[in-house]
Amino acid sequence: MTDRTITGLAARRVWDSRGHPTVEVEVALASGATGRAIAPAGASRGSREAVDLRDGGAKLKGLGVDLALANLRGPVAETLFGMDAVNQSAVDAALIALDGTPTKSRIGGNATVAASLAVLQAAAAASHQPLWSHLAATLGTTPSVPLPEIQIFGGGAHAGRRVDVQDFMVMVPGATSFAEALEVTAEIYHAAGAILAAKGRSGGVADEGGWWPDFRTNEEAMDTLIEAITKAGETPGKRVVISLDIAASELYRDGVYRLGLEKRSLTTDGMCDYLGGWLTQYPIVSIEDPLAEGDTAGLVAFTTTHGNRVQVIGDDALVTNADLVRQLATAGACNAVLIKVNQTGTVTGALEAFRAARALGWGTIVSARSGETEDVAISHLSTGLGAGQLKVGSFARSERMAKWNECLRIEEVLGPKAFVGGAPLAATWWQG
Ligand code: PGA
Ligand code: ZN
Repeated sequence: MTDRTITGLAARRVWDSRGHPTVEVEVALASGATGRAIAPAGASRGSREAVDLRDGGAKLKGLGVDLALANLRGPVAETLFGMDAVNQSAVDAALIALDGTPTKSRIGGNATVAASLAVLQAAAAASHQPLWSHLAATLGTTPSVPLPEIQIFGGGAHAGRRVDVQDFMVMVPGATSFAEALEVTAEIYHAAGAILAAKGRSGGVADEGGWWPDFRTNEEAMDTLIEAITKAGETPGKRVVISLDIAASELYRDGVYRLGLEKRSLTTDGMCDYLGGWLTQYPIVSIEDPLAEGDTAGLVAFTTTHGNRVQVIGDDALVTNADLVRQLATAGACNAVLIKVNQTGTVTGALEAFRAARALGWGTIVSARSGETEDVAISHLSTGLGAGQLKVGSFARSERMAKWNECLRIEEVLGPKAFVGGAPLAATWWQG
């Protein structure tokens, strides 16, 4: 036994930003150091991601976590006790072996991700370093403060499918610091709110804090976003650019994309043309899940046509899985990966997906889920790994703001020269 041996594990039920139950784990080491982590929860999930273990039944919409907590207090605690907290890959391998399923369905992805991250936090605490610097030191990476990708309008599954597109976001690659990127985004966010209010269309905010999308067409949302950027005193495509998450798996049924708002159905070619039109019309530099996870041919076609000038991010199609990253890269689909630790269920799984993407020269975006909490581990993860971007939703609600604010604190330590800025985005639209 050393100072860093895992000697204690507490699991408790806490609540996420949608008011749903979730899992918190606290790990204690022999030295007395502790680490704590909470599992987030997605709403537009990929079919191959780690699944949360939920109790089912009538209570709490079936979302109870008593089974996951029992697994943590029993078999997970027994497995982890006596292990070295610094050996994250051994800890995660033990969790994976204990679970024994490809999707963590026996122990629960919510249980494994909270346990895995809590161990990482405890190891960081034992090293007397903030998590980002512990990660950089143990992985040998150069820490950097990521470019924030911030939602202005929510949509899709996060806004009652009021519009088809899930995230209308801005990025400020022309900013010289994370702090400046946030300030510019704040002006745009509030300008968008004022525009909606003036039109009598303000309807509160969606799941991730973006304005509720009361629009007649998807293009009207795009045009309003351009209006908001302009009203904030910026020239769209200059210092500020647009990023979209289409979350197209949510629109895809029976081989067809159904745009509910406009009552249109599009084939794969039609969807590629529809989005391709936007790429020429608007200063879009990044587009996530433009086609559905099952439509690999569509993702290949889209990446082949547009991948040289926009970042094509795979979320549902890649589910933070290194093998899928390599497979889709070989097929010619996507050129960037979204990293969501709970999609794979362990820190090590996320690191493997990150490394696979980096080895391919792909973009890397660390992301929150739509169901979030006050846990700010991903701010540290994106910084410690030196990821290009960070996506945590909008510019309202503290489960989002906590993560942006944590990056401000980290930037204060690292200095603005550590800010990634526009470097990873090789898009023609961004005019620097
Ligand atoms: P989520 O979606 O609801 O599954 O977290 C977020 C995303 O699609 O990026
Ligand atoms: Zn997504």
